[in-house]
Amino acid sequence: MAKGKTATIFFCQSCGYESAKWMGQCPGCKEWNTFVEETVNKADLKASGGAAKRAGERQEPCALSEVTIHEESKILTGIGELDRVLGGGIVQGSLTLVGGDPGIGKSTLLLQVCKNLAQSGHKVLYISGEESQVQIKMRADRIGSFTPQMLLLCETDLGDIEEVIRRTKPEVVVIDSIQTMYNENVSAAPGSVSQVRESTGVLLQLAKGLGVSVFIVGHVTKEGTVAGPRVLEHMVDTVLYFEGDRHASYRILRGVKNRFGSTNEIGVFEMREQGLAEVANASEYMLSGRPENASGSVVACTMEGTRPLLVEIQALVCQSNFGIPRRQTTGTDFNRVNLLMAVLEKRLGVQLAGCDAYVNITGGLKILEPAIDLGIVIAILSSFRNRIVNPKLIAFGEVGLSGEVRAVSQTAQRVAEAAKLGFEVCVIPAVSEKDVMIADIKIVAVKNLQDVMDRLF
Ligand code: TYD
Ligand code: MG
Repeated sequence: MAKGKTATIFFCQSCGYESAKWMGQCPGCKEWNTFVEETVNKADLKASGGAAKRAGERQEPCALSEVTIHEESKILTGIGELDRVLGGGIVQGSLTLVGGDPGIGKSTLLLQVCKNLAQSGHKVLYISGEESQVQIKMRADRIGSFTPQMLLLCETDLGDIEEVIRRTKPEVVVIDSIQTMYNENVSAAPGSVSQVRESTGVLLQLAKGLGVSVFIVGHVTKEGTVAGPRVLEHMVDTVLYFEGDRHASYRILRGVKNRFGSTNEIGVFEMREQGLAEVANASEYMLSGRPENASGSVVACTMEGTRPLLVEIQALVCQSNFGIPRRQTTGTDFNRVNLLMAVLEKRLGVQLAGCDAYVNITGGLKILEPAIDLGIVIAILSSFRNRIVNPKLIAFGEVGLSGEVRAVSQTAQRVAEAAKLGFEVCVIPAVSEKDVMIADIKIVAVKNLQDVMDRLF
């Protein structure tokens, strides 16, 4: 147990903000009621500052030009969608945080990673603090067969875990989950901010010191009973979040921070009976189940990292029964939609003031890229006028306050994706027409909203 002087500190369980007194709202992340009192050993606090420092090793500065990079140090997980989000595989000695709501599929994904790695001859160690060996075995049986290279440990004491890692020397370690881990040098309870931070510090030291790649599972919690993964985002090399509706089968893995590759990459998965399956053609997946011949539905194109992604935008505009019309959005920015409606009123004279409007991006994605403006505008006009838009049409472009349609990046890729999926018409900003590389798709180049109205409605 902890020795020496102890101090009482209040920690925000959502973002890790420290305060000497209790506060209702966290100044760091603006969440309410997230402060919890924790007793911290002063000696621990001092030690945690240098968690990454390797013991007994004196570091000398060296010339950057003389540092050599070993390319072979990336391990492929065998799951293409994950490898891309990671930036081309698992980097040796890296620390990766996989966050997400409980039940979203974090354990399943990492167990599948372990299975693939073990099959390709890498030694992996899966440490669970949440499930018993039998529970994990039952899950593993659904996923497939495992080779003896995959080791399993049910343990929550980090001291013991450290000893096992040093003894068995695995290449990849999975910690499921960080909120269940317990470091006996820290007096706070498992799941508290100081415990989670301290445990991650120990794992960081192990990863860098022994060159093992460590995956840490972190649950996102709304209630603030355990520390959220944001508390340790700054300590790890890579942060991945697993998103999606627990009741729908698709899952999206998003890179939020990556010291070894690009962020904003997404991986799309589907939860099946035998675990998570990759969805290689995400656009097709996002558009499946589109209504036929319905007004208010249009396909827009957004970029997710380096990949174009087609999504369906739906709008429902109807007469309001109340003095103040109701506006609602799902999957996009509420204020942006209000702004676009104001532009429509002012520049085209469309009488939307007395109308309720609902705008929805199907597929569960949240898209904030302005390139979907044109799609939103066309969907609203289509619903307002009750006119069906050609189902083989896609649109992208930013809409400005004067009603002008402005250029967006990567026109060629977006048009190519539309052509690949069998779309016949592309509504694009007039200034981007010169960037289109292919001829077998009809291009409708629009300068402003009046053009959109004249040519589509
Ligand atoms: P899990 O990986 O346990 O979630 P987390 O670790 O993020 O809390 O995923 C649990 C859910 O996934 C559970 O509701 C059941 C479902 N599931 C399947 O649909 N198919 C499967 O093959 C597996 C293993 C789980
Ligand atoms: Mg789990």
